[in-house]
Amino acid sequence: MSNQSKQALGDREFSFTESNFKKICKWVFDYAGIELNEGKKELVYSRLARRIRHLQLNSFDEYCGLLKSGDDEEFVNFINAITTNLTSFFRESHHFDYLADSVVPNLCQRQNKINVWSAGCSTGEEPYSIAMTLLENILPGKSASILATDLDSNVVAKASSGIYPANRIDGIPQHKVKKWFKKGRRKQEGYVKVSPDLRKIIEFNQLNLMNSWPMTEKFDIIFCRNVVIYFSKETQKVLFDRYAELLVDGGHLFIGHSENIFKVSDRFDRIGPNSVYHKIK
Ligand SMILES: C[S@@+](CC[C@H](N)C(=O)[O-])C[C@H]1O[C@@H](n2cnc3c(N)ncnc32)[C@H](O)[C@@H]1O
Repeated sequence: MSNQSKQALGDREFSFTESNFKKICKWVFDYAGIELNEGKKELVYSRLARRIRHLQLNSFDEYCGLLKSGDDEEFVNFINAITTNLTSFFRESHHFDYLADSVVPNLCQRQNKINVWSAGCSTGEEPYSIAMTLLENILPGKSASILATDLDSNVVAKASSGIYPANRIDGIPQHKVKKWFKKGRRKQEGYVKVSPDLRKIIEFNQLNLMNSWPMTEKFDIIFCRNVVIYFSKETQKVLFDRYAELLVDGGHLFIGHSENIFKVSDRFDRIGPNSVYHKIK
């Protein structure tokens, strides 16, 4: 019987107890701030079953034992397997319109350099979309730099390579595609690579938002979209406070459309389109 049909029958390939699930939830929460509830049980099973198969173990008991034994390498794979990395170029496109039409022109009047952080950048589509928007809209003689970070080391490596399956850029207007992407040939057929001009203004790093942050320079803009949705309200409050500390006065915070700052943090006010805020204190 195939693995799929076994699961459909509720007959799992690997035994997965309530106690295994509880331990996994605790480790993920303690390390990454990500809250997993009962509704995420099947997702956890299927993502970690791949690791168990790969390691040729026999059960979640064995897998939890391995994690508990302090196997650092597997702990990284474990966290990478749990994170949800869904993203796309120009996701929530109104954010990039607002950046182009309002935020960048205003900043260019006041300063020579624009400093942006894409926190939870996944495979890089977000910071590259920010980079295209900045470079297309900053005034001559001005510059921009983007720090792009994520907890998941696999996605950071992908983002840093700047190489994507060609269908990832299907929705991008042709004039942008021509300007910012190069189509792969021969072995790279079916892939595109971002232009070095975009790549060189972005620094990619692995960073857990739950840990201390090494950055000292303040940011004009922080994008943290579709990340805090996985965190508890208490964790969100602490995180928004830390973002306020790292933003210049009046600095902008972009969050995801299903995320909400009201009743969580009083450090920001809504400005512009949905889910764009600026720091008020
Ligand atoms: C759904 S993706 C969002 C990607 C992008 N910001 C967007 O909106 O398209 C969420 C990302 O948050 C990252 N993430 C989750 N917990 C994190 C943490 N504690 N520290 C840093 N990144 C985290 C995940 O690895 C994942 O890549």
